[in-house]
Amino acid sequence: MVHVVNHPLVQAELTGLRCRNCPGPEFRQRLRRIASLMVPAVTADLPTRVVSCETPLELTSGVELARRIVLTPVLRAGLGFLDGFFDLLPEAAVAHIGLARNEETLLPEPYYIKTPPILAESEVIVLDPMLATGGSAVEAVRRLVELGAIHLRVACLVAAPEGIATFEAAWPEIPIFTAAIDRALNDRGYILPGLGDAGDRLFGTA
Ligand code: URA
Repeated sequence: MVHVVNHPLVQAELTGLRCRNCPGPEFRQRLRRIASLMVPAVTADLPTRVVSCETPLELTSGVELARRIVLTPVLRAGLGFLDGFFDLLPEAAVAHIGLARNEETLLPEPYYIKTPPILAESEVIVLDPMLATGGSAVEAVRRLVELGAIHLRVACLVAAPEGIATFEAAWPEIPIFTAAIDRALNDRGYILPGLGDAGDRLFGTA
């Protein structure tokens, strides 16, 4: 299931960030703000449990999140979403996943994985801003599931129809949240209209 976060603030930030002349510092700030603005939609159905709470006047009850949150940026571009999610989920733990394409098989393979130990009881939010072919998100989820993750969701900035189809074929029960579904992929795997290489624009490596 794909949820498009259509909030006007998200859409206006995304438009500014897509522009080729949006400089690096502005790109990073816009990406961070979009990430924060997406958190309410991405977390809207998180389970809670009832807890008691003593106000200065009397005992009452409220809720806390039932599961620990594990933010999982897929390197590199996923790092651009991390601080914006942290702003609203400061207690979250972080799992890092680095994937690189094996030039023989053309499949994404991990070069770095570091996760907190209690994945099974956690709500794992995979941060993969550009869902292009979908290969990285599919592989990241596969590795996380191998490591015990059960409750997962994916947060993207821009998704291509091809990436959504690939991801949904592999993981039909895992929801995707995205700010936009773009038109298509080009023959080099870039999303159209897209925004170019998110990692390069974030880290000034173009
Ligand atoms: N990764 C990016 O950063 N941009 C694309 O368009 C596709 C994949």
